[in-house]
Amino acid sequence: MESTKILSSVLSIIFFFIMVAVIYSQFKKNKTADSNKTIEHFDGIDEKDAPIPKVFFAAYLIAFIGAIVYVLLYPSLASWKGFVGWTQADDAYVAKSVDINNDINGAINAHTDEETFTLLQKEPLVIQEGKAIFGDNCSACHGLDATGQHNYPNLVDKDWLYGGSPQDIYTTIYNGRHGKMPAWKEVLNGDDIDELTQYVSQLNKGPFESNDLFDANCSSCHGKDAQGTHGIGAPNLTNNIWLHGSTKDDIKRVIENGMSNTMPAFSERLTRNQMLSLTSYILSLQNEPQENIGLMQAKTYIFSRNEKPLPAVLATCVGCHGADGLGGVPGTPKLAGLKEAYIYNQLNLFVSGLRQNTTMQGMTANLSVEDKLLAASYFSSLDSPDISEIFPDKSAEGLIKDPTERLIFQGDWQRALPACATCHGQKTEGNPSFPRLAGQSSDYLEKQLFDWRTGVRSGDQGQMMQNVVRKLTDDEIKSLSKYLSKIK
Ligand code: HEC
Ligand code: HEC
Ligand code: HEC
Ligand code: HEC
Repeated sequence: MESTKILSSVLSIIFFFIMVAVIYSQFKKNKTADSNKTIEHFDGIDEKDAPIPKVFFAAYLIAFIGAIVYVLLYPSLASWKGFVGWTQADDAYVAKSVDINNDINGAINAHTDEETFTLLQKEPLVIQEGKAIFGDNCSACHGLDATGQHNYPNLVDKDWLYGGSPQDIYTTIYNGRHGKMPAWKEVLNGDDIDELTQYVSQLNKGPFESNDLFDANCSSCHGKDAQGTHGIGAPNLTNNIWLHGSTKDDIKRVIENGMSNTMPAFSERLTRNQMLSLTSYILSLQNEPQENIGLMQAKTYIFSRNEKPLPAVLATCVGCHGADGLGGVPGTPKLAGLKEAYIYNQLNLFVSGLRQNTTMQGMTANLSVEDKLLAASYFSSLDSPDISEIFPDKSAEGLIKDPTERLIFQGDWQRALPACATCHGQKTEGNPSFPRLAGQSSDYLEKQLFDWRTGVRSGDQGQMMQNVVRKLTDDEIKSLSKYLSKIK
């Protein structure tokens, strides 16, 4: 190291003197040069004794002075450090350390969930990282500016299929999503589909008016007022935002053929903190404060307790059946309180078509055996309200006075009708083979009993329920459903 320094210093000094000598000799030569004198004649060309053009001379001089200034300012000769005190390390390329992990872990550890996201959105490095990850993983479908395209939703417009709270967005990225709209061309006739197309295409134009066909077939997913259901990604049909096209032809095509739209899952490809920074980035694109942030208190699973969101298949189910299994969307049965084997069996009945319901057939068509077992074990593990002892009023002979109560607890031997309680349990609380009826939605119970009569529902072991329903009158079905739904 030292010897190369000495060698380069010696060479520098030698070159210095050579340069001085060259300049001096050229300077002298230019004075005596005569541009008219020919000093050589070769192959018809004369070489004249003209002086070097002044420009070259000046340039050479400037370079020489520049070199001297450089030697004075920067380390160049031996251990000379130069007047500006520069060292090599000053210019070494230092990658800016984007340590989002630090930022995110810090925010999570020190704050409540609610504060965490407000903080992360203000953290430029986190947003910058989120944007970079978005460019690499998401922009192909959602566009570089996240405004989406045909079939791929816009992520900056606050019209959410699955909800815009931080948890919703994180869950979407973690699990992916699968929006399933059933096909209606086999279920409804052409006139019905035309009526629905016309109805849906007008929904964004005026005050909401209900429609019987829509109520019966579409409202279970899109909502009674067509505002959509976030849990299952059924879009709002009243706001003139169309994922699959806005013309009547587009709308009709979706209704006839249904839709199966998939957003891939990223839990295997990205780390938790990468997904959190993506979530922060997407939130930061919403130019106004998130009104949804208030929702965080209710669902605190991701950040503070560091738990995973529900598996994708369950995330869809709870959109209608509720995370507590107690229902939510009207007409949707409570699943809490049903036993694992019963739930699993019903899922298979939907798949086989023995139990017909467009919504549930759509939901179950692509479930794997594992998915069905998972759903059955999840929903059967949820608590359902306890039922208190029931003491119906009885006559002197021990016959229950109220005819509805009598059917449930004693049956009617005249019609060879066993009591509902013989199978469904003393308090209709259910058991592994027979579903709980107590507290179930009355609309749902009534629909099931009529479905058995019309053959829409079948597949029950030994046609037990079909035989029961055959012997009941319409009025009995209605009053039984009301009574059972009120048992607490
Ligand atoms: C099982 C739930 C379900 C039912 C029942 C259902 N839909 Fe849908 N619908 C969806 C989902 C989910 C989507 C969004 C599909 C996607 O992810 O792209 C959708 C999308 C649509 C769209 C496209 C909206 C857009 O933005 O382009 C129309 C139109 C539509 N549904 C109309 C209907 C009508 C009319 C009915 C009743 C005949 C109906 N749907 C019943 C779940 C349902
Ligand atoms: C292969 C295409 C594709 C890629 C890649 C993709 N998405 Fe999606 N994304 C979709 C589709 C399709 C939907 C709509 C799903 C549905 O209709 O059920 C969607 C839905 C979403 C939603 C829900 C929108 C709403 O309105 O609720 C979010 C949030 C989202 N994507 C974020 C991302 C992020 C972040 C990435 C990158 C990590 C990403 N997506 C990558 C196709 C994609
Ligand atoms: C769009 C709303 C919706 C979604 C999403 C949904 N369901 Fe359902 N579910 C219903 C409706 C409506 C019924 C009643 C069907 C009928 O009338 O036969 C039902 C019935 C059921 C039943 C039968 C209950 C009983 O008492 O016999 C089970 C089990 C069930 N669903 C499980 C699931 C599972 C598992 C998922 C997720 C894969 C799911 N559901 C998703 C609306 C939904
Ligand atoms: C002989 C036994 C038996 C009797 C008696 C019986 N049930 Fe059932 N019930 C069943 C079975 C089995 C099922 C499950 C059917 C299946 O697996 O699809 C069922 C299911 C039901 C369901 C559907 C529940 C759900 O969650 O979808 C209703 C409603 C119902 N029974 C009402 C009644 C009423 C009301 C009575 C009395 C009038 C009654 N049952 C008497 C055996 C019985």
